[in-house]
Amino acid sequence: MISKETIDRIIDAAQITDVIGDFVALKRRGANYMACCPFHHEKTPSFSVSPSKGIFKCFGCGKAGNVVSFVMEHEQLGYVDALKFLGKKYSIEVVDEDESPQDAQNRLRSESIVAVTRFAADFYSKALLETDQGISIGLSYFKERGFNLEIIKKFGLGWAPSGRGGQETFTKAALKAGYKKEFLVASGLSIERESNKELVDRFYDRVMFPITSISGRVIAFGGRTLRKDKAVAKYINSPETEIYIKSRSLYGIYQAKSAITKQQKCYLVEGYTDVLSFHKSGIENVVASSGTSLTTEQIRLIKRFAPEVTVLYDSDVAGIKASLRGIDMLLEEGLKVKVVLFPEGEDPDSYASKNGPAALQNFLDNSQQDFIAFKTQVLSDQSSKDPIQRARLISDVVASIAVIPDAITRAVYIEESSIQLNIAEEILSDEINKLRKKKQYGAYGSRTTPYNRPTRELGTPSSLPPIETGAKLPEFITDTYCEPAEKELLYYLIKFGESPLYGIDQQTDLGTSTVSQFILTELQNDDLELQNLVYKQIFDEYYQEKEKGQEHIQKHFTNHRDPNIVKTILDILYQEHSLTIKVFVESMTPEEQMLSIVVPKAILVYKAKITAIAYQNCCELLSNAEKEGEEEKQKELMEQVQVLMHIRNSFSKALNRLTI
Ligand code: CTP
Ligand code: MN
Repeated sequence: MISKETIDRIIDAAQITDVIGDFVALKRRGANYMACCPFHHEKTPSFSVSPSKGIFKCFGCGKAGNVVSFVMEHEQLGYVDALKFLGKKYSIEVVDEDESPQDAQNRLRSESIVAVTRFAADFYSKALLETDQGISIGLSYFKERGFNLEIIKKFGLGWAPSGRGGQETFTKAALKAGYKKEFLVASGLSIERESNKELVDRFYDRVMFPITSISGRVIAFGGRTLRKDKAVAKYINSPETEIYIKSRSLYGIYQAKSAITKQQKCYLVEGYTDVLSFHKSGIENVVASSGTSLTTEQIRLIKRFAPEVTVLYDSDVAGIKASLRGIDMLLEEGLKVKVVLFPEGEDPDSYASKNGPAALQNFLDNSQQDFIAFKTQVLSDQSSKDPIQRARLISDVVASIAVIPDAITRAVYIEESSIQLNIAEEILSDEINKLRKKKQYGAYGSRTTPYNRPTRELGTPSSLPPIETGAKLPEFITDTYCEPAEKELLYYLIKFGESPLYGIDQQTDLGTSTVSQFILTELQNDDLELQNLVYKQIFDEYYQEKEKGQEHIQKHFTNHRDPNIVKTILDILYQEHSLTIKVFVESMTPEEQMLSIVVPKAILVYKAKITAIAYQNCCELLSNAEKEGEEEKQKELMEQVQVLMHIRNSFSKALNRLTI
């Protein structure tokens, strides 16, 4: 947990335009700022930032939130990390208060590893740019490959000096700078010699490629030798450490993420130099899996930014066949997958260098191909007319289609492959269904977000007859029926909670009450609770905050630590009112003056809905009881139905009176 004071300090310090302005170009428009939305691709700006309210909202894709949720969304960080990110920007120290001694120790340890790794990145970079050896060997190699200073800086490229035991090495420099032996070893940058326990460099005589986390922190390195000697490994990479988990890292993700978000698509290449060449050619939405096969975690990382991946291949057939299975994983995660095959003897890097940026972009656009079609083609080129081989080909293609989570996409592929393979659609879809049943891919289809679905049973108003316990309302009713009315109530609560209502509260001498008091009393009198769980949480929290003496409750919510709450609050505050209330209000006097009319009305509307639902529910139970012939129950229910009908009618009458 981070202390409330720290959070408040960060939120106070973090000017939303200042933070968002680091990522997008904001243009002033009246009291607000506009930009093209960083979360979806658009040509005309619909992304609006309000400095006074401290919030952003995109009218195109609907994303909205405060400064913390922006950082969470844009940098793909958790709440605490987003606060730390902002803390760093504004030099506010963020300490996690109730972490255990063990956690604290682990944190200090990984912070120490991060620190030496950052030191190493600086060391290698300086060695490249400022030492004779680095300049004459490393830098001239990069220049020769066409990587200019801009690229070198952007990717923090470096040089690890030769002579691993010498005075000019990283290990010596780090020890001299005060870094502990323990962390030099733990970071994988130094290796302890068995014989004399002396530390030596892991990387020497190599050009260095820092690997960063998604937020740009250096976590590991790859080093390439420039020697032609076959006895020397071409690449050496950092081992896994506390801060570097290979299966979760992608080379270039930090430099690529905003381009991936904008283009809604990501190129996947093989190596470090391919990534650099793309950037050199002005294509920035590119990452590399760095020689290893793709993992699910890496795929999910990409998917956080874009729904489409284009995999680039050089024309090595064995390589292609080996990687086909890895691509099924992309499909399985629901990504749209395309493939680009480079001409014989070329890879993305060589192609870009030879033909220039425009030609590369052209080539990518024109030769990208759908993956399933590509796979079918590769395999059918391989297999002859031999029926056994043909059967294998078909089942291979079927296997790829079967993992796709979306049914419509599968159907499209079935249709296309049926033509390409010259085999009936029914046969393909039968096979696919069989496979899906076997592997239970079906589970993909039924994912639900817990927040959007009210799961509670309907509360039983005390003034209403009890509703059969265990009888759940059909979900569609609570969903579509109650929610607008609940939203309306919250709107008044959040926006006008502490405004006075005149002539409402006859019990007090003053004859006034506040909106929040009135709503609470009204709901409590009938023992009602909001059905939508997020709404209920907001409702409860409102009164808790009020109890605590919080004066800016609305701000409390727009700065809430749960991004879902922030989003809901913004939805509520800026909703297009579907109910007549708002229209009615706006066409007359300022909203606040009308509260004494509209708030009681919103309460009535809500109660009327609840009653209508209860009534409907009761009728259903009654008809069941009739079917089952349970006479006792029938009688009971009949009475309830009549009471409910009565209440419902009196609500309608009250409502009619109000609208006149
Ligand atoms: N790789 C590795 N170890 C090796 C060879 C390759 O880790 N011995 C990984 C590296 O991530 C490398 C990728 O596989 O970037 C692709 O290999 P390759 O094409 O040989 O290297 P490039 O980075 O493309 O380098 P270059 O173009 O300089 O040969
Ligand atoms: Mn290569």
